[in-house]
Amino acid sequence: MNPFGFRDRQLFAEDVPVAAIAEQVGTPCYIYSRAAIEARYRAFDAAFGTRAHQVCYAVKANSTLALLNVLVRLGAGFDIVSGGELERVRRAGGDTAKVVFSGVGKTREEMQLALAAGIGCFNVESEPELDQLNEVAGRMGKRAPVALRVNPDVDPATHPYISTGLKESKFGVPIERALAIYQRAQSLPHLQITGVGCHIGSQITDMDPFVDALERVVELVGELGDAGIELEHLDLGGGLGINYRDESPPEPDDYVLAILNRLQGLGSRYQRLRLMIQPGRAIVGNAGVLLARVLYLKLGGVRNFAIVDAGMNDLMRPALYDAWHDIAPVKVDAPRTPRVYDVVGPVCESGDFLGRNRELGIEAGDLLVVASAGAYGMAMSSNYNTRPRAAEVMVDGDRFQVVRRRESLDELLAAESLLPG
Ligand code: LLP
Repeated sequence: MNPFGFRDRQLFAEDVPVAAIAEQVGTPCYIYSRAAIEARYRAFDAAFGTRAHQVCYAVKANSTLALLNVLVRLGAGFDIVSGGELERVRRAGGDTAKVVFSGVGKTREEMQLALAAGIGCFNVESEPELDQLNEVAGRMGKRAPVALRVNPDVDPATHPYISTGLKESKFGVPIERALAIYQRAQSLPHLQITGVGCHIGSQITDMDPFVDALERVVELVGELGDAGIELEHLDLGGGLGINYRDESPPEPDDYVLAILNRLQGLGSRYQRLRLMIQPGRAIVGNAGVLLARVLYLKLGGVRNFAIVDAGMNDLMRPALYDAWHDIAPVKVDAPRTPRVYDVVGPVCESGDFLGRNRELGIEAGDLLVVASAGAYGMAMSSNYNTRPRAAEVMVDGDRFQVVRRRESLDELLAAESLLPG
């Protein structure tokens, strides 16, 4: 479903006119659709049918409490990468037993927090991490549930910055070494081996890399079983892409069915495995937009610039990955001269653009939305140029609620102090 559409020549978010949100909340502002988030989560979840499974939403994509809480209410699990994200899941009311903890650099303190919270699994990414987890768990008189994140060495054919499953990547352990590392893990008294995980990259728009990775992990599950290490779960990570421009990624149910198909016909060792996935972008990416207002049109030079009040600090993806996000006016009823613009923010960097070469009919004061901004938008925003972070709004039918108010300058500066004297 696309919750953002035009009616009577103006943009709506579900049943709320976007202009009404701008009027009450101001700009820049992120707008999310509850129905769209729910529909995407449910599509993944339902596609597993009766198979034991857990959809663990990747919190890093968008960690806003109200958004997490929408997923909590649907029974979601969560993939976290820091103690901070664990705290967010708890405050959103999440079930910590359904939390998996990924990431190459977990600290002792984070391990302690996660063990005390009783999380479902640590996805361990290196041998030293295994040792440290064993030690921390031992001191707490606990056994830490672990899966090894293996690196299956497949090319996800995506942007190099978000590709993680190749040999040269810092993530996971090489799959060839996995058996030996599992055997070591088995000898450590405060670890409980529960599963295996992988994550090969993000914004993957083709099923083949996922199936390739699954093949390799399935092979490993067999080798481990033969060596007396039977696993309880297999976690295929996240990474399913969305449509930003003209991509046509698999739908969540097709993605899940391809996974189930690959496992069909395998022996009981595989049928017993609980399947886990960690989608982030595919759940929230197209459920959110960034709303901005045109401050100035700068015309007549080599290029036309539409200078808007949202910048790279609000949405970093275009600057960082040269990522494409559609940009559209909120109202298309007034007469406007179409021109080709670079849509840029107020930040003092030439890389501060939201879109280049966009044909738009706009005037100063008009509202624009930057589409597909629900994932890695607010979560990657910063205070660069001492810009307070944007407000966030959740739309639900014909109502909307501010779920994070615009940051104030006092809040932004609260942690700082001057030198004495
Ligand atoms: N699981 C793990 C272990 C991950 O590292 C990631 C993403 C995910 C799950 C979720 O991936 P997703 O389903 O959202 O693709 N900032 C970049 C994306 C970085 C993704 C990092 N890891 C962007 O804006 O495109």
